[in-house]
Amino acid sequence: MVTVDHEHEKQAAAEAAANLVTDGMLVGLGTGSTVAYLLAALGRRNLAISCVATSPATEALATRHGLRIQPFEEIDHLDLAVDGADQVDPRCWLIKGGGGAHTRERIVAAAAYRFVVIVSSNKLVERLQAPVPLELLAFGLDSTLAALSGAVLRSAPRTPDGGVLADLHGDVSDPDQLSARLNATPGVVGHGLFPPTMVSMVLIGRGGEVESRQPVA
Ligand code: A5P
Repeated sequence: MVTVDHEHEKQAAAEAAANLVTDGMLVGLGTGSTVAYLLAALGRRNLAISCVATSPATEALATRHGLRIQPFEEIDHLDLAVDGADQVDPRCWLIKGGGGAHTRERIVAAAAYRFVVIVSSNKLVERLQAPVPLELLAFGLDSTLAALSGAVLRSAPRTPDGGVLADLHGDVSDPDQLSARLNATPGVVGHGLFPPTMVSMVLIGRGGEVESRQPVA
């Protein structure tokens, strides 16, 4: 039986993304185990860059690798954002938020001229599968949950922005429609469905190689 080393695949995809970064860039850093390899690779490159982080964990690790982190309050655009994903479908719809950072991750991805996604090959799916991570406002929480059939609170601390994490179970066969419904539900601060229109490229570690996939909008 052939065993696939997904950690090695994550590292290969992350290192390919790190090679897209050049001196002078403002870089958005995602969250998760794949991004951890990116931070190490960027640290080794010793570039003159500034970064924004999508989570306190990323900020702490990036700082340990010698990367300069700025607050994301007075920066209107980023040159590049790089992040992992939990699932990538053939069109490059993504499910993100396994680590609960999806609201900040979406803001950072949307602010970037290029949003590059880094994954191991086991993240590729033919069809997205529930659950879809949610971040909900604590105010009115039970009424928001009542409006979202299939939403289950996650046993996790509040987000750095005070949000409550939950996961939406149910049909994800029409991500466009589901995404529009979630965007229109009061009390939903953020969700983990990211459309192909946000994605510039997906870098996929597969065996010893790195493949790229372009979004189909
Ligand atoms: C964090 O909230 C997520 O969106 C991550 O980007 C996603 O869960 C991928 O994480 P790993 O790289 O750890 O698989």
